[in-house]
Amino acid sequence: MKTLKLMMLAVLAVMVVTSCSQKSQKSEKASKVLVLYYSQTSNTKVLAQEIAKRLNADIEEITLEEPYDTAFQATIDRCKADREKGILPEIKPLKANVADYEWIFIGYPIWFGTYAPPIASLLEKVDLSGKWVVPFCTFGSGGLESSMKDLAEKQPNAKVFPGYGVRAARMDAMPKELEQFLKRNSALMAVLDTTNVAVNEQADSPFVPADFPEQHPVSADEAAIFDAAVNGYPMLNAKAKSVASRTALDGIEYEFTAMDMPREKKPDMPPASEIKVYVLVEKDKAPVFIRVVR
Ligand SMILES: Cc1cc2nc3c(=O)[nH]c(=O)nc-3n(C[C@H](O)[C@H](O)[C@H](O)COP(=O)(O)O)c2cc1C
Repeated sequence: MKTLKLMMLAVLAVMVVTSCSQKSQKSEKASKVLVLYYSQTSNTKVLAQEIAKRLNADIEEITLEEPYDTAFQATIDRCKADREKGILPEIKPLKANVADYEWIFIGYPIWFGTYAPPIASLLEKVDLSGKWVVPFCTFGSGGLESSMKDLAEKQPNAKVFPGYGVRAARMDAMPKELEQFLKRNSALMAVLDTTNVAVNEQADSPFVPADFPEQHPVSADEAAIFDAAVNGYPMLNAKAKSVASRTALDGIEYEFTAMDMPREKKPDMPPASEIKVYVLVEKDKAPVFIRVVR
């Protein structure tokens, strides 16, 4: 963590110096940030467009030679069949030259716990060595952490920056969360500066949450908050065991440790497992879960 912070500070220093020396000519300069994304049903597209707008970045959608069927089950069936054959979907050639950029934001929906297969295809084709790579994603319940790990393993020479992910059901909370994410990352602020975005608009200090304290067994009230947050979400059948909480920007965020039980008595259902579920309780609003980490 210390090394990462030092690296970020070093990068920030270099970028600030570069930005100052280049300010007069930056409007003619090509953007240093590229946003590349795949999206099937537009959630990730909306997030990608918001990032590109805020960073004044170039943006390109990854498209397939043979797009997936829009029906959910047909997509699952094709993914399964491709996996059995050991193949990945063919993506169309990129127009952007990745080598021209210092920062590459890579966006995707989470499929089967990690980045969707078109991103696996992309990672076979591009060399991200030495680049700052910022993953971003949308998901039903979670998968940012696992996909970041997979990305770092696939491109070991890329400098993978801790990214941002949001539930498909919380897209309305995305613009504010994204703004906080960008503000919290000072190296990214330097990118904002070099890319000619009105930095003053973003100049307020970000909200930096404290670390979660140690967890304690859940009380009846906390169990009720957990149940209210996950109730009705069909992919979870979880019971909270312990919890810790901290102040969030507009309320309280809970980190629950829970046991997720098989949803149905079927042989192919995953076994019971311990998960972390992050729940937000904003003033006068019902509890919602932000993400699940498996
Ligand atoms: C084939 C498929 C598999 C999925 N697998 C997961 C998953 O493992 N975990 C999850 O949280 N969401 C999963 N989802 C939900 C998507 O990640 C979510 O709907 C996302 O916002 C879609 O992004 P898009 O609109 O950019 O395509 C899956 C969706 C599809 C179609």
